[in-house]
Amino acid sequence: MADYSSRGEVLTLETPKRALLLENIHPDAAARLTKAGYDVSTTTRALGTDELIDALAGVSLLGIRSQTHITERVFASAPDLLAVGAFCIGTNQIDLASAASHGVPVFNAPFSNTRSVVELAIAEIISMARRLPEKNFSMHSGVWNKSAKGAHEVRGRTLGIVGYGNIGTQLSVIAEALGMRVYFYDIADKLAIGNARRCSTLEELLESVETVTLHVDGRSGNRGFFGEAEFSKMRPRSLFLNLSRGFVVDHAALRENILSGHIAGAAVDVFPAEPKGRGDEFTSELRGLPNVILTPHIGGSTEEAQQDIGGFVSGKLVDYAEGGATSMSVNFPGVAEPLVPGMHRIIHLHKNVPGVLAAINRTLASRGVNVERQLLRTAGELGYVLTDTSTSFGEEVLDELRAMDVTIRLRTIEPE
Ligand code: NAI
Repeated sequence: MADYSSRGEVLTLETPKRALLLENIHPDAAARLTKAGYDVSTTTRALGTDELIDALAGVSLLGIRSQTHITERVFASAPDLLAVGAFCIGTNQIDLASAASHGVPVFNAPFSNTRSVVELAIAEIISMARRLPEKNFSMHSGVWNKSAKGAHEVRGRTLGIVGYGNIGTQLSVIAEALGMRVYFYDIADKLAIGNARRCSTLEELLESVETVTLHVDGRSGNRGFFGEAEFSKMRPRSLFLNLSRGFVVDHAALRENILSGHIAGAAVDVFPAEPKGRGDEFTSELRGLPNVILTPHIGGSTEEAQQDIGGFVSGKLVDYAEGGATSMSVNFPGVAEPLVPGMHRIIHLHKNVPGVLAAINRTLASRGVNVERQLLRTAGELGYVLTDTSTSFGEEVLDELRAMDVTIRLRTIEPE
């Protein structure tokens, strides 16, 4: 069990509401928070730990992207912080356990760029099938080479999707709309969409298709998941794509298979080691290879995705701040219950041990507070309960709830 600190506060209408958005988050986020009554400050850059701690004084909602690291020291030094929005997909830059232990939920945008990744994959599948990288290079080198040799339509071709999650399933639908025959392999049981065919092993998929595209998640077991053994099982002259995570593919093996001609083309968007900043040198054994498309981890980088992320994550922050909703939080049990006009709400985050609900209700009953609605969810070491009452509760009720040794954080929301 983590060493939880205990905090309690009462959020009233008089409490100044401040939000801080770092790293050039899409303006839709600031607009959404402003509409909800927040005084929003923005910066285009990331902040280091000490700067961040200073900037968080009086801030209840923080938005970051991938470059700002939020450590235990930041959470411990930011008592006003209510929630963090990661305006991106990944949350590795945030110490999630320590966020939870300080009663701070973290939200991200897992689906906002799904369509963008799918569109890039489709573009690359067609580009490789038509050998556009080489044609484009020849033209820029002043060589006119009007040949159909090795150029194909994708209609009627087989596509093998490895990892049939959000991206894999959407790619399945769009590839079928282009007339491709889709096969997929996933370690979890997944519903086949449209006419897609499930393969029961990776080998079965590799032997069945002409193009293999990886969309697995970043679990540590996927490190080195696709190497020489897998490339050798692919059909001769097939195409290969990886837009998932860099560490899942052995790039030395991919290089050898391209040079030998076993793999006829590859599109790679993610790399085991990626440069930190714009303009930094990119080193890879895949540079300079024929019919290989290299992109700088831009699968999800479109203006549409950024806009969607801005609206989605800011909406989650507001829903949490205004009503305690935690659905889709990456480190809290998920609870969402609309506020009912006239109701008082107690929001209680606690250690997940037996008897907490009974203890809360004993306290409320002993003070004559009647519970109208109550919703509890637990996940791992945390329990999270929303309690709506029609009668107001006094400070002594809240003091008693705060004093419970299982309490991590207590908030209340009063009716307008
Ligand atoms: P998801 O979590 O919805 O789907 C991943 C699927 O892969 C799951 O169904 C899971 O069961 C399956 N899986 C995991 N390991 C597997 C294995 N070894 N073999 C077969 N199936 C396996 O994830 P989502 O949203 O579809 O994203 C997929 C990948 O794309 C992730 O790695 C994500 O980080 C990456 N991504 C890349 C972007 C880019 O800019 N290139 C942008 C967005 C996501």
